[in-house]
Amino acid sequence: MIKVLFVCLGNICRSPTAHGVFVHQVELAGLSDRIEVDSAGTSGWHKEAEPDGRSMKEAARLGYDLSFIRSRQVDISDFDEFDYVLAMDESNLSDLLAMCPPEHRHKVQLFLSFSNVSESEVPDPYYGGAQGFSDVLSLVEQGGQALLEHIQNHAQSELR
Ligand code: 4NP
Repeated sequence: MIKVLFVCLGNICRSPTAHGVFVHQVELAGLSDRIEVDSAGTSGWHKEAEPDGRSMKEAARLGYDLSFIRSRQVDISDFDEFDYVLAMDESNLSDLLAMCPPEHRHKVQLFLSFSNVSESEVPDPYYGGAQGFSDVLSLVEQGGQALLEHIQNHAQSELR
């Protein structure tokens, strides 16, 4: 089993979008029994909340369901539990590295580092307009596909 955790600040916009989209991509690849997906926030500000309505609406427009996700804060045990702890932006990355035990630091990376899109971060859409949410969806679809290909190429023994 390979375990992937997507992380942003609030766990109500970007990381739940990545969570819902990646679940779908993993299902399409027939790997749902091999890859486990979750998401969390570096903050606990929205604990137990469902994803932001604007994220859910944009996801639903493209056929993705985020309604099963509830916000939670990253826990120190996540670094032991997960194989990939993927930050949406540089700020999330530095917050994660600041709390990550040294032996697990290699698991903490920028989500978009697996893809060849020109952006390195998924920008925070929370205080902006609808375009920001649509940009998040597009980056997350591309990033998720690239991550899936990386896992398929690099973790063949775990996927069998
Ligand atoms: P997220 O977006 O990190 O993509 O979930 C945000 C959600 C909430 C806040 C900031 C960003 N906030 O300030 O409450």
